[in-house]
Amino acid sequence: MDVHAAWLPDQAWRAIGSRRTLVRGAGDLVETVVDEVARACAQHGGLVCHQAWDHPGVFDLVLTLAPSDDGFVMSRADGVTAVRAGTPAGLLYGLFEVVRRGEAAFGDDLPAEAHRPARPRRMLDHWDNVDVHPVMGQVERGYAGGSLFWRDGALRDDLSRVRAYGRLLAACGINAITVNNVNVHATEARLLTDRLADVAALAGALRPYGIRIHLAVSFAAPVLVGGLPTADPLDGDVRRWWVRAVREVYATIPDFGGFVVKADSEGQPGPFSYGRSHADGANMLAAALAPHGGVVHWRAFVYNHRQDWRDRSTDRARAAFDHFAPLDGQFHDAVILQVKYGPMDFQAREPVAPVIAAMPQTRLAVEVQVTQEYTGQQRHVCYLGPQWSEVLRFRLTDRTVAELADGGLVAVSNAGDDPFWTGHPLAQANLYAFGRLAWDPAADPAAILDEWIDLTFGPDDPGLRRTLHLMMDESWRSYEQYTAPLGVGFMVRPGHHYGPDVDGYEYTPWGTYHFADRDGVGVDRTRASGTGQTGQYPAPWSETYESVWQCPDELLLFFHHVPYGHLLRGGSTVIQHIYDSHFAGAAAAAEMRRLWREVVPGGLVTAALHARVSERLDEQVRCAAEWRDQINAYFFRKSGVPDERGRPVDVRK
Ligand code: GCU
Repeated sequence: MDVHAAWLPDQAWRAIGSRRTLVRGAGDLVETVVDEVARACAQHGGLVCHQAWDHPGVFDLVLTLAPSDDGFVMSRADGVTAVRAGTPAGLLYGLFEVVRRGEAAFGDDLPAEAHRPARPRRMLDHWDNVDVHPVMGQVERGYAGGSLFWRDGALRDDLSRVRAYGRLLAACGINAITVNNVNVHATEARLLTDRLADVAALAGALRPYGIRIHLAVSFAAPVLVGGLPTADPLDGDVRRWWVRAVREVYATIPDFGGFVVKADSEGQPGPFSYGRSHADGANMLAAALAPHGGVVHWRAFVYNHRQDWRDRSTDRARAAFDHFAPLDGQFHDAVILQVKYGPMDFQAREPVAPVIAAMPQTRLAVEVQVTQEYTGQQRHVCYLGPQWSEVLRFRLTDRTVAELADGGLVAVSNAGDDPFWTGHPLAQANLYAFGRLAWDPAADPAAILDEWIDLTFGPDDPGLRRTLHLMMDESWRSYEQYTAPLGVGFMVRPGHHYGPDVDGYEYTPWGTYHFADRDGVGVDRTRASGTGQTGQYPAPWSETYESVWQCPDELLLFFHHVPYGHLLRGGSTVIQHIYDSHFAGAAAAAEMRRLWREVVPGGLVTAALHARVSERLDEQVRCAAEWRDQINAYFFRKSGVPDERGRPVDVRK
């Protein structure tokens, strides 16, 4: 099967490709703009001139490179649409804005409209392995086939698909990626040294679309690949080794972006082994990168994964704050602390991570997970735009999370070598939405979904648009409804993390998540009687979350252990809410499938796409029912409280 065009089918280029376009400016990315317009014109009969003559009256679209800053200004007057950009990358983003608008870009006059990315770096992390990992496979938490970059221990021979990927990413505003997993194994550690040519080849494939390459590196690289006896960040030889390694990288890839480091986390090496702090570790790498303009994304995902489940004082949710808040002010300017949006691990519902408010003197990037590890693994429809938007707009202090994330937004990618890029064709919307929110965190996720629908399926089918909105707008909330209740999280099967297993992690060293007994459920994180994690939040949240009466319902069991009969702010009891939400969530999944069955294949809804979505919806409906039944039966058996509406919760239906 051919590779799906995702949000850039030929039809999306009709408005531009059937017109006359002038491109003014010079540079590699300007060449990309010219090539893109030329390709569209070849399809649709228009023409493109590159800086040919200064006679705008002849053209319908004029794309100009004018000296100013990043971003672009778009306008339309006297029958000409104009895009003026400060940089060649800005011109490319301006071109894609015209694509998004289609015919509307050539309609009514448009007063000058400035578009500027909220942050300079909008980044994807690929958790791709070079060697196939015995447990995790080619892509860790990958649900879309193999890696776009690597295959069986080597770089892929044909990088044309990597280039096509870069094109899709640029079209939604992404401009940086890491090409290997944050868990850096033996072969991947060598990408920094003797496998650097592979990285350079990837950089070459992505450069025409303005995407810079970053590498995940092992903190122990001086030992693993350098042959030194230590990786101590304060050791002179170690520091010199990194300086030399980085110099070599920049000699090979002059526009290299920098490093991503997962240190002292889930078995990865780090500065703790040498009695050093994470500031010592990060600053050593920053000092090597900064002279070349590079940065180090240092992950704050550091916690004890060997805890005793009987020990109630160890709280994984506290860890990032406890490790990093005391280091505020100690990081080099070239360090960006990369923080997962919640204090746990990409659950369907978590509060915002309090460390985001605790580091005013440190550059922070907020990390989300496009690959749906805990949200249906690209077998379930779960449009995450609303979740990310809620996080980004959340006012943690007098500033929103998006404002506090001055180092930008990072996401774990969900793309692979699957013909649809993301396994589930509708999961493409998550990748697209991430790019658009990284560009503009205030954007409305429903409007982003509209853009994605228009581009992917064409703007002329209001019925399909309506169906997709009905299926996707609330899909994250439906997923939340049929899985772990009220913010409790992690009731998944250990290891692969798909499907329900209420006690799967409850008695393991990875953390304890729900503490359900015959009387009640939830984790007491209050200062009054629990782990005190509520105290990591600034006011008013520290008070709101501390109070069992003020805590928002959807986070109640994250912060409090309550009896099953506890009355929620929404009016029902905890146990009744569990039953109601699980019946409602599973019913919503069945309704999605019903809606999709009414979609008739045709046009850009190809038979193959239709079939793939149908097949995934069958699995979603099955899995949602399994969640509903296991969660409901589990809590019925613990509590002994029947469903007040008399539905079957623990009998064969
Ligand atoms: C999750 C995920 C791991 C991943 C880790 C991380 O725990 O299950 O596969 O390595 O996050 O973000 O580093």
